[in-house]
Order: sequence, then C-alpha cells, then structure tokens
Amino acid sequence: MSELFERLRTLPAFPADLPVLDVEHAPADPEALFLQWLDDAIDSGARQPHAMTFATVRPDGTPVARTLIVEDIDADGIHVSTHRTSRKGQEIAADQRATMLFFWRESGRQVRVTGRMVELSDEASQRDWEARPSYTGEPNPDWQLYALVPEEYEFMQAREDRHHTRLDYRRDGMAWERGLVPTPAG
Ligand SMILES: Cc1cc2nc3c(=O)[nH]c(=O)nc-3n(C[C@H](O)[C@H](O)[C@H](O)COP(=O)(O)O)c2cc1C
Repeated sequence: MSELFERLRTLPAFPADLPVLDVEHAPADPEALFLQWLDDAIDSGARQPHAMTFATVRPDGTPVARTLIVEDIDADGIHVSTHRTSRKGQEIAADQRATMLFFWRESGRQVRVTGRMVELSDEASQRDWEARPSYTGEPNPDWQLYALVPEEYEFMQAREDRHHTRLDYRRDGMAWERGLVPTPAG
C-alpha cells in the first residue's frame, strides 16, 4: 500500500450526529425535499451551498463535469447561467441531457438531479447578466440562462455506519414515483 493510501484511509468520514431521512414521511414532490435540504445547507452556514457538479455529454458520449452555481429554482426548473459558446453551452445545444450533483458534507447529504436543459428567455438571461458582480453596463448576447427540467432525483442521507439511505424519485407523467434504493454497506 502506498503512503498516500495510508493517509487517505485515516481521513475522517461521516460524523455520528447526522440527520435522518424519514422515508415514510418524505414529500410526494421531490422539489419540496430538495428545497428543504438546500435551505438546511444555507442555514447551516455551509460555504457555497448552491454550488454543484454539473455533468453534460460530449458528442462522442464522453461524460464531462464542472462546478456551477444555482441561480434560482422555479416552475421552469433549476436555473444556471453560462456562456452559450462555452464548451458546456455547445454540449447542451447538441444534447440536452444533464445531471446536477449536490454534496453538503456537513450534513452528509447528496442529491443527484437528472433531466434536460432548456434555454430560458433572452430577457431573463440579460437580467441574470446584469445582476452579476462583473457587469459593467454592457449587454452580453452570449450569456444564457438555462433550466434543468428534472426527470429523476436521488436523495442520499449518509449514516456513520455506512448503511446510507437513498430515496429515488422518477417522473411518471405529472406524478412522481418514489422508492428506496438498496444500499449495500461499504
Ligand atoms: C465554485 C464555482 C462556481 C462556478 N460557477 C460557474 C457558473 O455559475 N457559471 C459558469 O459558467 N462557470 C462557473 N464556474 C466555472 C466552471 O466550473 C467552468 O470551469 C467554466 O464554466 C468552463 O466550463 P466548460 O469549459 O465546461 O464550458 C464555477 C467554478 C467554481 C469552482
């Protein structure tokens, strides 16, 4: 075993005082649970609780990811903004499928949201651009606000004993099907 292996092994993992995901009483709408967990992360003082890993697919099928900030959440979906001509912008234009992965380490919570990206209006995109700290008064036609329209959520609540709780929601027409995902301890 390498020295790095030994160092990594000794790093602390999950603490004992983690919240519990009450699956029986979980909301029927996953957005409600997602907003509750995001609120908890904001209230806990976590740094950049609205940052997540955003994965897209290249034309050759290679998955690629980077960090993005969530701008808003509403009936359109989960909003992010970026340059339309960026690599991710081009990937979205060619393939709408995307995944957002949130990790709030303080509470041992992870949420994966998978769906399709839609472009929001030019007006909304410019309003977002104008609200940015770097805005100098010039419009930016390359700036694009997108929304991820969720088709699937997976909520994971870590446990110190590694018997993590995973709750999956899948869109079924207008409703959501939900179920526990078996998690082997590891
Ligand atoms: C904490 C954090 C937040 C970021 N937020 C954004 C963002 O909201 N929009 C954005 O375009 N890039 C953001 N970035 C930069 C992206 O991760 C990425 O490097 C950049 O957008 C280029 O990605 P691409 O080449 O895949 O298009 C952020 C990076 C970090 C570390």
